[in-house]
Amino acid sequence: MDVSRASNPLFGPNRFKLGVFSANCDGGLTMSLAPERWPCRWDDIAAMSQLADAAGMEFILPVAKWRGYQGKANVYGRSFETLTHGAALAALTKRIAIFCTVHVALVTPAFTAKAMATIDHVSHGRAGLNIVCGWNQNEFDLHGVTIDPETRYDQGLEWFEVWSRLLQGGPEFDWDGKYYHFKKLQTDPLSIQRPWPAVMSAGFSPKGREFAARAADVLFLNVTELDQVPAILADVDAQMAIHKRKISVFTMGHVVCRPTRKDAEDYFHYFAEEMEDPGGQAYYLENRGATVNDGGRQIVRPMRNRFHRATGLNYAGAYPGVYPFVGTPDDIAAEMARMSASGLAGCTVAFVDYLKEIPYFIQEVLPRLERLGIRGPNV
Ligand SMILES: Cc1cc2nc3c(=O)[nH]c(=O)nc-3n(C[C@H](O)[C@H](O)[C@H](O)COP(=O)(O)O)c2cc1C
Repeated sequence: MDVSRASNPLFGPNRFKLGVFSANCDGGLTMSLAPERWPCRWDDIAAMSQLADAAGMEFILPVAKWRGYQGKANVYGRSFETLTHGAALAALTKRIAIFCTVHVALVTPAFTAKAMATIDHVSHGRAGLNIVCGWNQNEFDLHGVTIDPETRYDQGLEWFEVWSRLLQGGPEFDWDGKYYHFKKLQTDPLSIQRPWPAVMSAGFSPKGREFAARAADVLFLNVTELDQVPAILADVDAQMAIHKRKISVFTMGHVVCRPTRKDAEDYFHYFAEEMEDPGGQAYYLENRGATVNDGGRQIVRPMRNRFHRATGLNYAGAYPGVYPFVGTPDDIAAEMARMSASGLAGCTVAFVDYLKEIPYFIQEVLPRLERLGIRGPNV
């Protein structure tokens, strides 16, 4: 690890890292009509983030969204912009890493370098950037920008080269690339983290993973069943070997933690099955696509989890591809320990009502993870 990133808990000692995901958007990480779904109010986001910070969780990760998923719930219809959200949370928290999510086609590398340096200074070295290359033309229409599915990650790499070079400092430079032409590039202040703040990406397609192999410190991949992990990690390792780099692989989870397993499973059934939002699900599938092209071969995106497999029901109110942690504190801690043992280095958590539910997770699950040896004490 580069010591100049020691201020960022993403590179801290806990074997299994935890972050809160998607709380800057309404509905959080659901596609549910449940009336108590996350309404995305600033004061709630700030209070919840401060709880995660005090509990020693590693990061807050927001989603960059420009349009809702339609349907009756229109989840994601309301969302806070992530750089400004990050700057505010940086000032309101003490230890947790604050990620921002930027679409490369919408924000220039120089703008993002300055914004990220600002957040890195405000947070004293806790900023992180989730670089996304975009997938939903519907959202990009709002900016008048067209996504080219074939070249988006090549453009992303060029963007990353400029952004990371800017933050390394040095004399002014011009850039005359395939996608970008810039003159007299420089930025000041540089980030506190050296050579630049932590970088995440979440490409699932072959080009997306290649992007992560070259640019990211953490790669997010959808894992819906733990038996998928060995093949995923073997694939990532092979790519990393080509680039002689190391990367951590994380996934994203949704937590329903209750004193009894029945209560947890009943609640999951309620918000994800009974209250599913078929319109939102249809919008997602139409724009996202259920498969991805890998050199002519169609790979199915992992979407079906153990609940689908056990019951044959859709549970479509849970976000597609999310890993469900549903059960008692013991169940959830044991599941996270299995996930850690499978080789994943961390995951995100989301809740139907983040502010109401995270205290129980912090109080009951985190100490169990410590006892199971995958996280240290909250010091
Ligand atoms: C944890 C996580 C966070 C993501 N955040 C965003 C985001 O904020 N905005 C966005 O447009 N896409 C986001 N994505 C989508 C990814 O950037 C990517 O498009 C997706 O995982 C599919 O991979 P592909 O682009 O290689 O097909 C996210 C995905 C994951 C797993």
